Amino acid sequence: MWARLMAVAAATFAGAVLAPAGDGPAAADLVAARQAAYRLSAATFVSIKGAIDRGDTVEAQEAPARALAGWARALPAMFPPGSDAPPTQALPAVWSDRAGFEARAAAYAAAADRLAALAAAGDKLGFAAQWGEVRKRCAACHDGYRRSAGQRPG
Ligand code: HEC
Repeated sequence: MWARLMAVAAATFAGAVLAPAGDGPAAADLVAARQAAYRLSAATFVSIKGAIDRGDTVEAQEAPARALAGWARALPAMFPPGSDAPPTQALPAVWSDRAGFEARAAAYAAAADRLAALAAAGDKLGFAAQWGEVRKRCAACHDGYRRSAGQRPG
């Protein structure tokens, strides 16, 4: 529920940032907002895993899975040009290889859509397997577009 609201808020917020005549938020505020949204999405993702590990039925996981898909679609707009200042962990490739970054976000959205569809279908085994597929989509983007722990300054 909250994750879904966050995804909607993020999408609305991102729309405001990109409005041609609007005064967008400061880059530092944008970095803080997207980092918070990532933490919320990670909490949602971990809570879904909890349901799998408990052996819960999966229908109730449709809403959180859809929230992840919503965030996946909104997230590229949270990285407008110029939002690359510290404390961001985003690598310059987010902006220099925009097509690659957007393709990875789209792959994440598609994987989360499938996760939601499997939840709606009540397919416990398929849902559990698809959770692992979504996790691969996180890693596939972090590998090239987010500073790893070893690369972090300090
Ligand atoms: C399309 C690329 C992409 C995908 C897909 C992606 N991430 Fe990230 N993630 C990033 C980038 C870039 C950052 C750094 C953002 C910043 O610091 O400005 C980040 C940061 C984070 C952070 C750190 C937030 C903080 O506290 O600073 C977490 C946690 C995270 N991602 C979790 C996830 C999880 C979980 C998934 C999959 C369910 C995922 N991400 C999918 C690109 C992605």
